[in-house]
Amino acid sequence: MIMKLIEKLSKIEKFIGNTKTYQLDYKRSNLFAKLEYGSFMGSIKDRLAFYTVRKAILDGYINEDTTVIESSSGNFAVGLAGICKCLGLKFVAVVDPNITEEKEKHLSFLAHKTIKVHKRDQYDSYLLTRIKLINTILEENGNYFNINQYKNINNYLCYYNTMANEIIRDFKRLDYLFIAVSTGGTVTGLSLKLKEHYPNIKIVAVDIEGSIIFSNEVKKRSISGMGASRKSNFIEKGKLDEAIILPQNEIMQGCFDLLKEQMVFAGGSSGAVYVAAKKLLEKENNPDLNALIICPDRGHAYIDSIYKKVDNKVLEKLPKSQLEYGSLV
Ligand SMILES: Cc1ncc(COP(=O)(O)O)c(C=O)c1O
Repeated sequence: MIMKLIEKLSKIEKFIGNTKTYQLDYKRSNLFAKLEYGSFMGSIKDRLAFYTVRKAILDGYINEDTTVIESSSGNFAVGLAGICKCLGLKFVAVVDPNITEEKEKHLSFLAHKTIKVHKRDQYDSYLLTRIKLINTILEENGNYFNINQYKNINNYLCYYNTMANEIIRDFKRLDYLFIAVSTGGTVTGLSLKLKEHYPNIKIVAVDIEGSIIFSNEVKKRSISGMGASRKSNFIEKGKLDEAIILPQNEIMQGCFDLLKEQMVFAGGSSGAVYVAAKKLLEKENNPDLNALIICPDRGHAYIDSIYKKVDNKVLEKLPKSQLEYGSLV
């Protein structure tokens, strides 16, 4: 039975990861971008979805009758929904009213079911309500499996074992890596593996004001994907050198700049790492440095939250194909 799932996994595998890295048009240093949005369902979380589902299948937690369930309104839910659909597994997404219309539409097509919670928890968020609901469903139903990206160590092991190797393959020497954070899985896994390979590399985590990953000042955020209203379970295991916390308006400006200056049409996290990299590399003022930013997803999902404010003239000037494919660099 499981052999069929394993066969299907091997067919999907070639569409996951192995994303392209481009050199950006930047004079101060050698600045590169790894475009994770070139993946199967369009984001960095596809590799996490594939890695964690495969691991659970191989470890015997998921069989052909298992329903996979996860609390996520974002890229992880879409990645899991896509992979489960291809594997013939049922996927239930537990979401809240903050979900974007775009993600909800994706899930209505890909997921077996989307359950939206409406009751706020004691922290005025929906997180605890979502977790409570999942625990109830797990207690009441036999063959359900919850990946739990916030606690599952395969989260950072995924980046340690997959994406880090792609970076090592692409760079003989790497001096800086800039990564936006949410669960902390990407920055933890990449920092651990890349420090083994490039002992002098500086790992810079980039967060948004109002997120409590590196601070305790809660503030309303309207850019999805990066930041969190809970501390990371992984970051303490990682090897981070610096954390840069950016205000929302600078991140939005970073997205516009990435589009105008580099023809990269990407989400908030990509704008954030672009701003952070330029700030730091300007200070360094060293043309020999090799720096890499990770672009987790495309700009499409951010039209309402970020790009509505973009100078329409910039968009008009771009040929259609550049908007669709994200980069011509
Ligand atoms: C838009 C976006 N930003 C940032 C990240 C990094 O998140 P994490 O810290 O959960 O690995 C992700 C997911 O990997 C993402 O989808």
